Amino acid sequence: MKIAVYECEDWQEEYLRDRLEEHEVVFIHDTLSVTNVPADAEALIVFIWSQVTKEVLDVASNVRFVATMSTGFDHIDIEACKERNIVVSSVPFYGENTVAEHTFALLLTISRNILPSVQRVKGGTFNPQGLRGWDLKGKTLGVIGTGSIGRHVIKMARSFEMPVLAFDPFPKEGLDNELGFSYVGLDHLLAHSDIVTLHCPYNEHTHHLLNDHNLSFIKQGAVVINTARGGLIDSAALLRALQEGRVSAAGLDVLEEEASIREEYQVLSPHFHQQGNLHRVVLEHVLIHHPRVIVTPHNAFNSIEALERILDTTIENLHGFVRGQPINTVN
Ligand code: NAI
Repeated sequence: MKIAVYECEDWQEEYLRDRLEEHEVVFIHDTLSVTNVPADAEALIVFIWSQVTKEVLDVASNVRFVATMSTGFDHIDIEACKERNIVVSSVPFYGENTVAEHTFALLLTISRNILPSVQRVKGGTFNPQGLRGWDLKGKTLGVIGTGSIGRHVIKMARSFEMPVLAFDPFPKEGLDNELGFSYVGLDHLLAHSDIVTLHCPYNEHTHHLLNDHNLSFIKQGAVVINTARGGLIDSAALLRALQEGRVSAAGLDVLEEEASIREEYQVLSPHFHQQGNLHRVVLEHVLIHHPRVIVTPHNAFNSIEALERILDTTIENLHGFVRGQPINTVN
């Protein structure tokens, strides 16, 4: 099959080339367009900056399969694909354990004073005075959202011997018994958790899910961790809660200004940085400079294994199509 692959970094090109030897594969570093789509291509592999339009499909009229290396697929004209009997597959999961691990990386960095400890030793002082931390064992973790990532976080928390409370408007039947936690209402979770961690989607219902109102009764001295989406927390309200000591610390992988991000892989693309002044806005964000806040640059998903899983699933999607048994289809 002749396959045109778009938007790959060099290592991804090598990874795919090695695993798609039986096919004729053309790599194009740019995004897909009518001018660079091979007229005889039978399959396209793209990322979200490549618009798979009617016009492109008219030029490449032999295309039978489109694989996107992303979870979302709104860059693909699904109707146009249906009309042409083109199968479209995506990558539904790749980073559940990865984001959960980063959640604990942030939490442990806070609980064990890792940043000041390392800075002190690098500065030539080998002395633990003032760097005392606190145990996770016995602290109650409040998990907001018990989907793919939330449930990994719960499993990890249980192995730290933490009691877990969780809130999800769509509780998963039996999951609480299976993993050993309790579903409670959001207000109860906030009032009783030593650490609150967010793992729900950002949408019009979850905008500023944590706000001045409910941060006013969050458990005194709670830690807030956010590896989901920045818009879930009203940053100004969080800052007030930090200043008043109601929240003792925060670990954030995402900030409010990032609302335009649809999915994580986007932030690694060279095309991403062409999007206005997000970088500057994020850097200037006042939370970044707060002494009791640690911020990572939307990096929770960014592990070698997670990125390889995207490629592996894309390859499986292609093999499924070739076998006549397409998987992870979206149309
Ligand atoms: P998922 O779809 O598997 O789970 C989301 C869960 O949130 C579902 O159980 C859903 O019922 C629940 N939910 C929906 N509305 C809610 C509400 N108002 N309050 C509480 N729970 C609610 O999603 P997944 O894969 O676990 O991802 C969770 C979040 O993590 C997403 O927002 C995603 O964008 C973000 N994410 C962040 C990454 C990073 O690198 N920082 C990487 C991957 C995902």
